[in-house]
Amino acid sequence: MPLHFDLFTLLPDVCAAYVRESILKRAQEAGLVTVQIHNIRDYAEGKHLTTDDLPYGGGGGMVMKPEPVFAAVEAVLGEWPRSGATPPAEAEAAARAPSNQPAVPIILLTPQGRVFTQAVAQELGRHERIALICGRYEGFDERIREHLATDEISIGDYVLTGGELAALVVVDAVTRLLPGVLGDPTGALDDSHASGLLEYPHYTRPPEFRGWTVPEILLSGHHARIEQWRREEALRRTYLRRPDMLAAANLSEEDRQFIADLAKASPEAEAHE
Ligand code: 6GU
Repeated sequence: MPLHFDLFTLLPDVCAAYVRESILKRAQEAGLVTVQIHNIRDYAEGKHLTTDDLPYGGGGGMVMKPEPVFAAVEAVLGEWPRSGATPPAEAEAAARAPSNQPAVPIILLTPQGRVFTQAVAQELGRHERIALICGRYEGFDERIREHLATDEISIGDYVLTGGELAALVVVDAVTRLLPGVLGDPTGALDDSHASGLLEYPHYTRPPEFRGWTVPEILLSGHHARIEQWRREEALRRTYLRRPDMLAAANLSEEDRQFIADLAKASPEAEAHE
C-alpha cells in the first residue's frame, strides 16, 4: 500500500508543480506514494467563495474561516473520526494505530506547531495516510486547531506567507525515507541528521578541478580507511558547525576520542555553539 498524502490548500497549482517533479514524481510512478491536492476554495460557499474573514475583536489581517476547511477535510476523509464533535473515547481509541497515533493524522502547518525534524519525518512515515492543511492569511480560526487538527507542525523559527512550502517540505522529507524511493537502499541512512551527525564531504570527477584536488584517500580504494576518513570528517563537521547535535548522536569510544582530540587542537571551535 502506498503512503497517501492529502494536501488541503488555497494554492493547488503551487503544490502540484512541486510534487510532479524529480524524486516525488518517480515515487508516485513507482506506486510508493500517492499525493492528492484539494482546493479548499472548492468547498467554500456563497457567490464569492470566501475562505477568509475579519478577526473578531478587531486588529489587522484576515482569518481563515472554519467552514470550508472542515467541509474539505470531511468530504475527503469522511466525517469521522474528526467531525467537529469529539468522538466517544472507545471509538477514538479504535481509530488509533498501535503507536497511539491517530490513524490518519490531520496536520495543520503553522509556525506555532511542534518543530519538524528528521525524527518527526520518520514518525510520519509509519502512517498509511496523512492529511496536511495549509493556511494562508494571518491564521486559522481557532476551532480548526481545536476540533479538526490532530497535530500542528512548524518547519522552523521564521514566518512564511502560507503553509504550502511547509507541507511540501513534509511530503518531501517523509517520502524520501520510504523503502524503494531512493535508488540506493542505504541512501537515506547516510543523510545528515539520520545518523545524528552532519554528512562527510562528497566528491565526484574530475580528480582535479581548477587546481583543487580530491582527497587522496578517496582515490586509494582502501574501503576501511575511506570509511574511517568519512566518519572522522562527519564528526569534525558536526563538531565545528553543529556541536549541539553531538549530545544526542550515537558515538563510539573512538568517536569520542576523536572529538576530544579536535577540542584540544582547536578549543576556539567551542565558540560556534
Ligand atoms: Cl508550517 N507555516 C507558516 N506560515 N510559516 C512557517 C511555518 C509554517 N513553519 C515555519 N514558518
